[in-house]
Amino acid sequence: MVSCLKTKKQNTQAAKSFLVTKGWLDTSYCMGKSGKYVLLAITDKADTKAILAKFMGSIEQRNILKVKLETRTIKDALSNVIPAEELDKINRGFEAIGDIAVIEIPEGLSKLEVNIAWALKRIHKHIKVVAKKDKKTSGKYRIRKVKVLVGDMRTETVHKESGARLKLDLNKVYFSPKLGSERLRILRQVKPKENILNMFAGVGPYPIVFAKNKKDITQTAIELNPAAVRYFKQNLKLNKLEKRITLIKGDAKVEVPKLKQKFDRIIMVLPEKAHEFLPHALKVANKGAMIHIYQFEARDDADRRAQELKKMTGAKAVKPVRAGGFSPKIDRFCFDIQLP
Ligand SMILES: C[S@@+](CC[C@H](N)C(=O)[O-])C[C@H]1O[C@@H](n2cnc3c(N)ncnc32)[C@H](O)[C@@H]1O
Repeated sequence: MVSCLKTKKQNTQAAKSFLVTKGWLDTSYCMGKSGKYVLLAITDKADTKAILAKFMGSIEQRNILKVKLETRTIKDALSNVIPAEELDKINRGFEAIGDIAVIEIPEGLSKLEVNIAWALKRIHKHIKVVAKKDKKTSGKYRIRKVKVLVGDMRTETVHKESGARLKLDLNKVYFSPKLGSERLRILRQVKPKENILNMFAGVGPYPIVFAKNKKDITQTAIELNPAAVRYFKQNLKLNKLEKRITLIKGDAKVEVPKLKQKFDRIIMVLPEKAHEFLPHALKVANKGAMIHIYQFEARDDADRRAQELKKMTGAKAVKPVRAGGFSPKIDRFCFDIQLP
């Protein structure tokens, strides 16, 4: 037996959303039905007076079915929460950054966003916050804002990747776990004793993952966003790398020409603008250096762009490597520029 709100069927959606928002819906039970009424299981903490003030009905002790324990996918978890015809719109995937899950709410389902978020949190026990993508990546610091839907009211977390711990706030800095495989791809190319420059370093994922996995390299990183620089410094401590990476706060256009050294590998992750910085990179590149520059390109244009970059830099070879999607027609490419 469990306490239930018994209310008319037409109130179902509004009552569920209300109970979910308050944290009073006991999601371990299925929704019950009784003639013209629905039965929604409520938690011990639920304020029954507040519920009855909002919805006509009664609070009753009822025997209703428990949700199947083998519920695994978000669609399964939502099958008794949102109408079947809406289920197909739900995207099964989400992006996990530390203990924060970032989801995209499909068009037309914003009224159910909290229900969707709770379902996801219930299935994935390590997730403590569920947030939705709120705005597109924008501004000179390339931040993609999120809005917390359920869980702790925070956007700061520690993400673990390839032996590194990266502390960051999603609403203050850029970070994409999707680039994790790119970091490993480039890491595999790094040779002993390399001197590496990272021009747009963010909170430090490339340099920190590299340093954690290669003991005999030296690295310099430049970053403009003061919040990202603050997190980068904390991450150096967190990973005990203070002595192994030189961090410069500032604009790469100003800071690179001041550098008194040359580099064997230069990494440029600023897809919209990195090409503007290419002349600066070439001036500090060692003979035979490799430049990894990220750009957004239409899939069919990548080879043409590689040829352009080859001409522009006098490279021996330029190889486009697809590094994730951006929009239906545009992908993110990393162009590996091998200098002579
Ligand atoms: C797309 S993010 C990549 C960050 C990091 N490399 C990563 O993979 O998480 C680009 C970063 O470049 C920084 N940025 C933008 N313009 C810059 C500039 N002129 N000089 C240095 N950093 C810059 C932004 O603040 C942002 O953190």
